Amino acid sequence: MDKLVIEGGMPLEGEVRISGAKNATLPLMASTLLAAGTHVIENAPRLRDIRTMRNLLGHMGASCEHNDVLVIDTSDIHTLEAPYDLVKTMRASVLVLGPMVARYRRARVSLPGGCAIGARPINLHLKGLEQMGVDIDLEHGYVIARAGRLKGACISFDLVTVTGTENLMMAATLAEGITVLKNAAREPEVVALAEYLCSMGARIEGAGTSEITIEGVKDLSPGRVSVIPDRIEAGTYLVAAGITGGHLKLTSCRPDHLEAVINKLHMAGLPIEAGEGTLEVQRTDRIRSVNVKTWPFPAFPTDMQAQFMALMALSDGVSLITEQIFENRFMHVLELKRLGADIELEGRSAVVRGVRKLSGAPVMATDLRASASLVLGGLAAHGITEISRIYHLDRGYEAMEKKLSAVGARIWREGNGA
Ligand code: EPU
Repeated sequence: MDKLVIEGGMPLEGEVRISGAKNATLPLMASTLLAAGTHVIENAPRLRDIRTMRNLLGHMGASCEHNDVLVIDTSDIHTLEAPYDLVKTMRASVLVLGPMVARYRRARVSLPGGCAIGARPINLHLKGLEQMGVDIDLEHGYVIARAGRLKGACISFDLVTVTGTENLMMAATLAEGITVLKNAAREPEVVALAEYLCSMGARIEGAGTSEITIEGVKDLSPGRVSVIPDRIEAGTYLVAAGITGGHLKLTSCRPDHLEAVINKLHMAGLPIEAGEGTLEVQRTDRIRSVNVKTWPFPAFPTDMQAQFMALMALSDGVSLITEQIFENRFMHVLELKRLGADIELEGRSAVVRGVRKLSGAPVMATDLRASASLVLGGLAAHGITEISRIYHLDRGYEAMEKKLSAVGARIWREGNGA
């Protein structure tokens, strides 16, 4: 199995191009099920999760080709099923449920199992679909959904859910009448999906606010879309510059999607300059300790919590990092401690006491963002860090070791390509 080897201590210098966002591409791919024909998705990142979604759509009968652009032809969908093998490797597979049941009026989707960062149930997706007239049964580990034409409904989410909002918004585009989603997620990925759906003929208002109104239409037609930049990848590279005492310019990014992260990094002593599609960061002083609480957009994202913790491990004081979205997203703590970090867990918070230096060690990746925090720790640590189980990293960071090497990191992959 592949591992990443990092010889830490090199300040990063140069330019990094930010890729298209994984979490925007996955719902766009699922939305292709709403309209038969050829959809073209530009700027889709080359990632394991994108391949998994291609395999899933392929299993259903779509043809997917990813060369310069990602082309998905949904003219011949014949299998209305998301099997366990695919759902268990990627929970976002559940995004096909809404489009399938809206267009084909039935679906069989494996229930996702447990996950390294929390229980992550899909009860709110199912409850919303039931309100739209879908009959839901759970059999043999599968959600069996059957419906006539879906009916518009007023759906109020108990919790803000990103893929829940996306699933129901997609389903509602083909429903009869008006659907209102209250307490909807406001993430940029939701807005990007709404924009593509509208370009396909959907009628959606309010995406980006907590109330989205969708007026159902009879059918949609395929189109062309360009994926928004990955705000979490950008945030991760900002931390990489900060943690190594370097100077990076990020291109092809959206500073307006990163305000909460930029604000916290600024408080931590990293001045960041935002330009037209660019972000530039340079560290001159020691990192200052800052408290952080995760919350849905526009607040500080849970997907940046682990990376920020790696930065705080080298700060000049004590910081309190509170995870409010997922109950178990602290798997990186024990691994960061192996690099010499001083972190104590107290319920949903981590108390991080900054140390002067980290030292390289063998560590293990446990989930996507935890892996990124270990890469960051390794880049700053003295000596060699070896990160095993890096398939987690390949799910969500395009060519990470190549991008990092190009700006001066000593990082390489060892293994047999698995
Ligand atoms: N929740 C429920 N019931 C539901 C749905 C969610 O209780 O039916 C709970 C979850 O357990 C969690 C909270 O609501 O405690 C929020 O979860 P959400 O549904 O928003 O998460 P998600 O849609 O499954 C997406 C991203 C995650 C990101 C979260 C939060 C995609 C494909 N995934 O997941 O990304 O952490 O939103 O922002 O968009 C990642 O990229 O590393 C990643 C995990």
